[in-house]
Amino acid sequence: MSVHTQTSRMTTAKIRQMKANGEKITMLTSYDFTLASLVDAAGTDIILVGDSASNVVCGNQYTLPITVDEMIFLTKGVVRAAHHALVVCDMPFGSYQISEEDAVRNAIRILKESGADAVKIEGGEEILPAIRHMIRVGVPVCGHLGLTPQSVNQFGGYGLRAKEVAEAEKLLHDAKLLDEAGCFCIVLEKIPAALAKQVTEAVSCPVIGIGAGNATDGQVLVLHDMLGMNTGFKPKFLRHFAQLAAPITSAVEDYIAAVKDGSFPSAEESY
Ligand code: KIV
Repeated sequence: MSVHTQTSRMTTAKIRQMKANGEKITMLTSYDFTLASLVDAAGTDIILVGDSASNVVCGNQYTLPITVDEMIFLTKGVVRAAHHALVVCDMPFGSYQISEEDAVRNAIRILKESGADAVKIEGGEEILPAIRHMIRVGVPVCGHLGLTPQSVNQFGGYGLRAKEVAEAEKLLHDAKLLDEAGCFCIVLEKIPAALAKQVTEAVSCPVIGIGAGNATDGQVLVLHDMLGMNTGFKPKFLRHFAQLAAPITSAVEDYIAAVKDGSFPSAEESY
């Protein structure tokens, strides 16, 4: 029997139930089979194939260039690794803003071709018709409010969002709309902890924070960031749960030295 059964795997209903039970929800990004296998085996509830792949995997400065085809390619490997976690695929920039119909077509394509369980989409009231339509046709949707990196050109950077009353009120309003529309969870990125608490208490769906304090129903981090693989990026909200950059560099240096001095491969490592 396949391990990918409805009973053993996370579902959006189970994620919702976790909020009701007061159980914290863990979400981490992954973009490939090998790391996703480790993240899944460790017991993570949700694996997000984030469009941060544009930065982490492709080396772009922004998330904007990554395409639906590239997101589907990466997500397929993660889905093969996920025996426990729910897999959520980010809808990339340009895949849902043009029209409601285009958004639904792309969301369905992502689910059909990648095998993801759900999509994540950035924005509030502006994209509500598309979100409603997706949910109506059976696409589970995770919302994303606060710092929405696809709007970096509008924001002019990656600073804290919703510090001012007007933006905080709009965010709370948007969160309620996403909740009413049926989003199974909402990611809140880089907003004041007090506002994230207010949103978490105001909506029925789980709220997952990144740089949003600890009153949310769960947390999400970019895997490569929390593993300390990217030493140049250390915002206040990020905790390094490992420091992998140094041991990886050191292993590669040892390999280079062993090849150069002829000690690798040894007789035991040869046929
Ligand atoms: O793309 C991503 O990795 C994300 C998380 C930071 C929430 O959207």
